[in-house]
This record gives sequence, C-alpha cells and structure tokens, in this order.
Amino acid sequence: NGPKPLVIAIDGPAASGKSSTAQWVAQLLNVHHVDSGAFYRAITLLALGTGVAPELWTSQAVLAEAHRITWRLTERSVLPLVDGAEHDEAMRDAPVTRQVSRVAQMAAVRHWVNDQVRAAGAATDVVVDGRDIGTAVFPTAALKVFLVADPWERARRRLIQRLGRRPNDAEIAEETEALVARDALDAAQSAPARDAITIDTTTVTQEEQVERIVALAKATRDRI
Ligand code: DC
Repeated sequence: NGPKPLVIAIDGPAASGKSSTAQWVAQLLNVHHVDSGAFYRAITLLALGTGVAPELWTSQAVLAEAHRITWRLTERSVLPLVDGAEHDEAMRDAPVTRQVSRVAQMAAVRHWVNDQVRAAGAATDVVVDGRDIGTAVFPTAALKVFLVADPWERARRRLIQRLGRRPNDAEIAEETEALVARDALDAAQSAPARDAITIDTTTVTQEEQVERIVALAKATRDRI
C-alpha cells in the first residue's frame, strides 16, 4: 500500500469555469482530471435513448442503463465511455443539457455517480470538478476550492466559447436568465464545504485562477 491518492475538489455553479480550470490544474500537477458532470451527462444521454418521455423517467429506469457506462484513464483524464466509446459531443448537446438536472436530482443516480468518481479517485491522484465533490463525494479531500462568478460574467464567457465572438447585451441577458434557472435547479446539491476556499473569478483571468489553485495544491501536497 503506497500513500493515499491525492484528491483536489473544485466545485461551483454552471459556467463558473470549473471544468477547464480543473483540467488545466491537473495538467500542471501531472495528475488526472475527473469531470463528475460528465457522468451525469452520460447517463442522461442513455436515458434519452430509451425514448421514454423525460417526465416519466424513474431512477430505476435510468440506472438500468448504467452498466453501459465505463471509464478509462487517459494520460491526463478519467474518460467516461458509453458502450466503450467516447460521446463527448452528444453529452454536451442541448437535449442532454436540458434534462441533466432532472437526472442529477435522483438520489440513486447521485449514489451511482459518486461510486464511479470515488473509484477513479482511489486509482490515481485526481482533480475532480462538480457541485458536491468537497461535501458529499470526497469530504476528506486534501484541498477544496469553490469557484464563484457573477452570473452576467459567466453567461458572457459561455457565449464567447459557444459563438466564437463577442455576444451582445441581449444575448448575454438571455443566457444569464438560463444560467440562473439552472443554478436554481442545481442549488440543492451545490454548496461550498465548510473548509473550501472560495475564489471569485469575476475579475480574475483563468490563468491567475489556475496559478492560485496550483500554488494551494502544491502547499497541500507538501503538507500531506
Ligand atoms: O458541470 P456540468 O454542467 O457538466 O453538470 C451537468 C449537470 O450535472 C448539472 O445539472 C449539475 C449536475 N452535477 C451535479 O449535480 N453534481 C456534480 N458533482 C456534477 C454535476
């Protein structure tokens, strides 16, 4: 038995930059990135494939598809696979994004995702991003970061990413409304752990934010 794997938890609301930050931090620390939201998205994709109307989904029916989801370690990430293949594009598409909060509210589904993510964290050093990583999934994580940002700024960043250009105010207003609605749906499972370090990224560049987390992580790694 070697030393216990290192776990760094990065939580925060939609479009707070968690995933890209976590990915970047994992690169710099030479550990694996786990996107826990990707597991919720993968199982939602399979639920959509059943053809049953989302309003009628039960956790039992959704979890009946879970055996089709596995994951493997790539050089820098824990990659969820559906029927053995990557489905990243379909998982990020609008139909999944519209229904994923519904699935993420099912306790049995959360239990299943948590098991997947914990198994990955037991296999290797990880930076995990999500909503409840520092509270429910890895309450003893060595470092917990909670990212927050003004909704308008989150909407603006997301649109730049999606459109590849500067959005106008009407577009940002519409996206802000959608983000705030999603925050409300996800609120029950999204809160900072008591020992989390909250970073407001509204006026911070992603580079600065990554540097700050890497510095915290290095200090943590020296300590444990
Ligand atoms: O971060 P994301 O947009 O890929 O997350 C997709 C959905 O999964 C979102 O509705 C929140 C939910 N989620 C969650 O409830 N707990 C997590 N640890 C990660 C994601």
